[in-house]
Amino acid sequence: MFQSLSTLANKRIILGLTGGIAAYKSAELTRLFKKAGAEVRVVLTPAAAEFITPLTLQALSGNPVHQHILDPAAEAGMGHIELAKWADLILIAPASADFIARMAAGMGNDLLTTLCLASEAPIAIAPAMNQAMWHDTRTQSNVKQLESLGMQLWGPGAGDQACGDSGLGRMLEPEQLAELSGAMFSSGALSGLRVCITAGPTREAIDPVRYISNHSSGKMGYALAEAAIEAGARVTLISGPVNLNSPERVCRITVTNAQQMLDAALAQMGRCDVFIAAAAVADYRPASVAEQKIKKSDDTMTLTLVKNPDIVATVASHPQRPFTVGFAAETERMLEHARAKLERKTLDMIIANDVAQQGIGFNSDDNAVTVVTRNSEQSLPLASKSQLARTLVTLIAQHLAIPRH
Ligand code: C5P
Repeated sequence: MFQSLSTLANKRIILGLTGGIAAYKSAELTRLFKKAGAEVRVVLTPAAAEFITPLTLQALSGNPVHQHILDPAAEAGMGHIELAKWADLILIAPASADFIARMAAGMGNDLLTTLCLASEAPIAIAPAMNQAMWHDTRTQSNVKQLESLGMQLWGPGAGDQACGDSGLGRMLEPEQLAELSGAMFSSGALSGLRVCITAGPTREAIDPVRYISNHSSGKMGYALAEAAIEAGARVTLISGPVNLNSPERVCRITVTNAQQMLDAALAQMGRCDVFIAAAAVADYRPASVAEQKIKKSDDTMTLTLVKNPDIVATVASHPQRPFTVGFAAETERMLEHARAKLERKTLDMIIANDVAQQGIGFNSDDNAVTVVTRNSEQSLPLASKSQLARTLVTLIAQHLAIPRH
């Protein structure tokens, strides 16, 4: 746990606080940064100072707190441009709707916005606000604007809110923000890249209590998510129902059926560099879902099934297509079938495994695969799924370095 915090040693972090009840959590975040060996300078907007005292943050950061742009005493110490140049990372936590709007408009009407305008350091934003404010179309378009400017959006999380509402808008926890900050400085094979992984089975409802599914455990996809995190990527894991804990620092989106998995995958297009389809998507779903529990009256029953969308093929044909990796579980003529699948789905890479062999693949802890691309083939011997995931991540990183088409 918290292994990436070691990368924070000696890093210079500006922690900006804007007005919000989540400001109290930033005291803990300051402490975590300091503990990891980072240098921290805290900047408070006037609204933030209503929620937390500068003295608390001064004591925790070991540095004077910066509040005013036109403060002669502060400018005599470290002026605002100097401060902007000093930072290796600027993290705004909590970031209020007002602050996000001002940043999106390019305003520099307080110390924090001015610093962000003047700094070349990466900027990350951890929003915290009421769920309705978060969903407001103006906030959403402001957030998109900030993302399009290259700023990182960390959160918000979902859950109970101080105002009594529940939903998206909670600031991420200090530990998560510290981890994400640490990951910014990691220099792994996928450093700075965004990876999206599908994992686990899908469940296709027959009626309110029954469904069609398969025995996929999700282990391979989760192992890949962990390996990609280790390699410095930012990972979104779109997971069907599984019995696994979410790996640290992974953003997990939980889905039930294939259509939801497809929707979640398509929402990642444009902000995903690598897509890995490790899910065992149900090929078919019932043509209609019965509204009430189906009664057992006849001795036999017939279900009409319709084909599910092919998620990985849809991603691979998207105009903003990432480097796309699929899996092929085969029981015979493995390489031939895998290669045909690579072509048919227009994938960049396919990971083939022979599921006829005992003790590997589906629902097992180990796997042995052959990695196939248009012009290469590489067999990886039997290994634990986590070991294999690390090798696969390294191979993906190597192939990413080769120009495509
Ligand atoms: O066609 P087949 O199911 O054998 O292909 C397996 C690969 O395609 C896996 O990577 C799986 O995640 C992906 N797939 C998908 N959507 C489907 C079926 C398979 O993304 N509906």
